[in-house]
Amino acid sequence: MASTEGPYEEEKLLLSTLPKDTGWQSQHLYLFQGFWCPSFHLQGVNSFQKHFQAKDNDVIVAAFPKSGTTWLKALTFSILNRQRFSPSHNHPLLTSISHELVPFLEFIFHPHNLQYKRPYPLKDMTEPRLFATHIPFPSLSNSIKDSNCKIVYICRNPFDTFVSAWVFFNKIKPHSLHDLTIEESLEKYCKGICGYGPHWDHMLGYWKQSRATPNKVLFLKYEELKEDVNFYVKRVAEFLDCPFTEEEESNGVIESIIKLCSFDKMKNLEVNKSGTIDRNIEKKYFFRKGEIGDWVNYFSPAMIDKLSKTIEEKLRGSGLSF
Ligand code: A3P
Repeated sequence: MASTEGPYEEEKLLLSTLPKDTGWQSQHLYLFQGFWCPSFHLQGVNSFQKHFQAKDNDVIVAAFPKSGTTWLKALTFSILNRQRFSPSHNHPLLTSISHELVPFLEFIFHPHNLQYKRPYPLKDMTEPRLFATHIPFPSLSNSIKDSNCKIVYICRNPFDTFVSAWVFFNKIKPHSLHDLTIEESLEKYCKGICGYGPHWDHMLGYWKQSRATPNKVLFLKYEELKEDVNFYVKRVAEFLDCPFTEEEESNGVIESIIKLCSFDKMKNLEVNKSGTIDRNIEKKYFFRKGEIGDWVNYFSPAMIDKLSKTIEEKLRGSGLSF
């Protein structure tokens, strides 16, 4: 684990060599290994790549920010731990937001992270260990790529992801910061300049890997999960080699998990309505509308045209579409 004392000289040097952009949030973005890494996360990403040792039975939830990470963390945690915690009573999700139960790898390894204990007690974690990440597939540590650990990835329609991010980052940005208009933000987004962007490269990295190694990466879409959550909860359990038994199915375990992790349930839990996590972000901001298609309330015809053309060009020929 990295030292907790200030940035290393090596990292300072690295920062001085990387292309930089003001981004559209409160922090600078650095172009690191082909993706725009928020300055606050760079040390964590760098340190994670050097120090994380994956185990064969680890599970990693991966997502581009604002694609449904909070939901997929809750579902995966409930599926994996259903023998330890019954989804119908006294479940940890009733008293902790899923971000507290499923740590981000880039945060665990961040020397100044305030959200988790430092050094993070990796050795004390119950197996199978469950982590999350926003890091693109090519930049995951070799130990993840080389081990038999599994990755569940969720992506979301770029129109809704953009709006969700736009609203979220406007809520958390310091008042003193200059406001970018939604058009200016879309301009940057279409150039790929946003935290962990370009968005399409992020999706395509996991998409290609899921096709090459379907036992390693399960690729989900937020929209499909919403439309048939029952089917995908079973799919995730099968993928993680812990399929639901007939007895569990008939006892309503799947329905209990779905209900526990549903948007309305999570949004209205006292633990998610108040308090903050990581750098004072209000927990309630992680639960906004949870709808498909809310982007129509934000996009002008010119913006629709711009993003449609960008997505069509970037995803062309990949087999991935929205
Ligand atoms: P909206 O802003 O469109 O409402 P992330 O978890 O990656 O930060 O993504 C946040 C988005 O997921 C937000 O979308 C949020 O409302 C939605 N979300 C959070 N919990 C959810 C749940 N249990 N079911 C469905 N959507 C959820």
